[in-house]
Amino acid sequence: MEIELHVTNAPADDAMLVYRMDVTEPLSEPPLSKGEFVFVRGITGISANFMAWGRTLGWPGAVKTALKVLSGKRLFFGVKSGNSMVQSGWANIGFCRHYVIESDSIVLGELWTAPEHRGKGLASVALRRVIVRLHDCGFKRFYIDTKLDNPASQRMIEKAGFSNRIQ
Ligand SMILES: CC(C)(COP(=O)(O)OP(=O)(O)OC[C@H]1O[C@@H](n2cnc3c(N)ncnc32)[C@H](O)[C@@H]1OP(=O)(O)O)[C@@H](O)C(=O)NCCC(=O)NCCS
Repeated sequence: MEIELHVTNAPADDAMLVYRMDVTEPLSEPPLSKGEFVFVRGITGISANFMAWGRTLGWPGAVKTALKVLSGKRLFFGVKSGNSMVQSGWANIGFCRHYVIESDSIVLGELWTAPEHRGKGLASVALRRVIVRLHDCGFKRFYIDTKLDNPASQRMIEKAGFSNRIQ
């Protein structure tokens, strides 16, 4: 199904780029240069990663992250190394603050890599890996957006395999 993209809440000053990927066949997981990929969808993942969230985000941040996962509409993913998160991101199921999407599609966002680990492929590999996992769970359409003035983010998105810019 094709839908029209309605940008409802775009940032006023920075142009937003929106990419879409439709996955039609199984994908393979690329290797990570460092750490362990984590994908948190439920209570087991929360308990396994709570300490790393606390060390990286502080304990209020860890509680907030756990509550977001428990909402059932948001999945946490990232790269854990030495008991802290060196990379993180979110996958939202069927909703986006900026544009209207299909209820069974995924919006990826809030990508972050610790400054000392940037440029080593962590974010693009983690993005690709979360797409593989979610595709295995039955999701087929993925969106991601970034700002025009963020070339590192644009490059990361393209490296993860998003070649179709729809806005
Ligand atoms: C965007 C961000 C998550 C990328 O993380 P990362 O782990 O460094 O990403 P990757 O290494 O997978 O890919 C980054 C690519 O951008 C390139 N890059 C970095 N700065 C760049 C710049 N100023 N111009 C062009 N390319 C740039 C890197 O060299 C790398 O490409 P390469 O492998 O071809 O050399 C990280 O820079 C970050 O946390 N930024 C702050 C938060 C942010 O802007 N998040 C994005 C919100 S959508």
